[in-house]
Amino acid sequence: FLTSRVNVVYIDRSGERIPVKAKVGDNVLYLAHKHGIDLEGEGACEASLACSTCHVYVNSAHLDKLPEPEEREDDMLDMAPMLQENSRLGCQIILTPDLDGIELTLPKVTRNFYVDGHVPKPH
Ligand code: FES
Repeated sequence: FLTSRVNVVYIDRSGERIPVKAKVGDNVLYLAHKHGIDLEGEGACEASLACSTCHVYVNSAHLDKLPEPEEREDDMLDMAPMLQENSRLGCQIILTPDLDGIELTLPKVTRNFYVDGHVPKPH
């Protein structure tokens, strides 16, 4: 089924583009894990909205197609370093056919206060 395929591009911390073929219903945090994309500390809380290590930037063309963040996602995002207009938590993004072609950029820094309780220094 063509419509059940969703193309996703991750852009890693070095700016490298990593295209991934995904399916409708995939969670972009676990999708990255599955493809061995190096997301340091990412997903520390197992998608329970208790960390912000799954922070990603969504390309503007697809940002509007995502459901509005829940209050708890917003609260967590507020604590993420390098917050931008297009910041979302990856563990809350579930792929839909609309999201085909979405580009997810990994921030240079994530804060895993769930584990280490301090802000890492930007490199
Ligand atoms: Fe912790 Fe997404 S994995 S908030």
